[in-house]
Amino acid sequence: MKIKKIKKIVKDIFIKNNLSSSDAEISSKAIINAELVGAYGHGLSRLKMYCDRIQKKIINPKPKIKIKKISPSISHIDAKNSIGFVAADIAIKTAIKNAKKTGIGMVAVKNSGHYGLSGYYAEQAVKKNLIAMIYTNAPPAIAPHGALKSLFGTNPICFASPTGSKIPFILDTSISMINRGKIRVAAKNNKKIPKGVALDIFGKPTIDAKKALAGVQLPIAGFRGSGLAWMVDILSGVLTGGNHAGRVKDPFDDFSGPQNIGHLFITFKANLFQKNYNQRIKDNIKTIKKLPKIKGIKEIMYPGENKFNRYRKNLKKEISIPENIRKDLITLISN
Ligand SMILES: NC(=O)c1ccc[n+]([C@@H]2O[C@H](COP(=O)([O-])OP(=O)(O)OC[C@H]3O[C@@H](n4cnc5c(N)ncnc54)[C@H](O)[C@@H]3O)[C@@H](O)[C@H]2O)c1
Repeated sequence: MKIKKIKKIVKDIFIKNNLSSSDAEISSKAIINAELVGAYGHGLSRLKMYCDRIQKKIINPKPKIKIKKISPSISHIDAKNSIGFVAADIAIKTAIKNAKKTGIGMVAVKNSGHYGLSGYYAEQAVKKNLIAMIYTNAPPAIAPHGALKSLFGTNPICFASPTGSKIPFILDTSISMINRGKIRVAAKNNKKIPKGVALDIFGKPTIDAKKALAGVQLPIAGFRGSGLAWMVDILSGVLTGGNHAGRVKDPFDDFSGPQNIGHLFITFKANLFQKNYNQRIKDNIKTIKKLPKIKGIKEIMYPGENKFNRYRKNLKKEISIPENIRKDLITLISN
């Protein structure tokens, strides 16, 4: 389906679900962006879930979001259970405004929901020549190092910087070894999963997808990844007033109340300390790209390059919609 057409359908569905036209625009844009960068788990596949949560009055489609100014640099947002996209949109815009004025902007958000891709917001700051660091927590998926129970979310870590070229540096990575969706697909098709990504219910490493689903997923890099996930839980949950320590509800399975996810957005001018930052980072990237390459590697890429290239390619194509999502869309439009 043509990008413009599917975006309008998504926007209309949100409007039908009582979002204002501008909030529906913000939310549909974020969903279509996820499709275009190939992050399908954060795109159309979540639309029905957002609508279900709105209908069950767990997401507030018309929240009176509060922005409390703590200092010219720092703001605290109470998202009042808005859809995450809208809270994150206000937060990144506020962080950019604060950084433009004072050099640094820091915005904490509580009572929010799933906002999609951290990199989507970071890119907006980079376009204003700012560096961005963005954190959000998420429902339990990963066992803390040594634990036999999932508690941390896939808690993405995002760092983004201007590069002096049109492709921003965006390191935007979840801290799980493997996407849960991939384990679900393997379980359905009786396929094995890679070694070292999950434990069974007894805490033993497993390559059996069904056992992995019943057990726990592992973080990247052992205790180091577990520590990073914990850091994200502290920065986006403990610090902001959001839920933390495994209390963020699963948006698909748990309708007993709002998620109260927390986010933290930090932005600052790239040229705070060195006026010629862009020249320096260009030199940094050039040096790294010129290194001798391992056999089979054509180019050393920096984080963000792959997604940027995919986005540019996909922008010229139609969005292909799997059958189950097509069915969701038809139901959501006609309800
Ligand atoms: N909102 C949430 O609760 C939530 C939770 C988890 C993940 N996410 C989002 O999901 C998205 C996907 O996360 P992911 O961990 O699957 O990302 P990924 O594994 O696709 O990429 C991780 C990072 O590695 C970089 N990268 C990939 N291949 C590379 C290469 N060959 N050379 C250099 N760099 C390379 C990417 O540009 C990216 O910055 C992110 O945007 C994240 O914010 C959101």
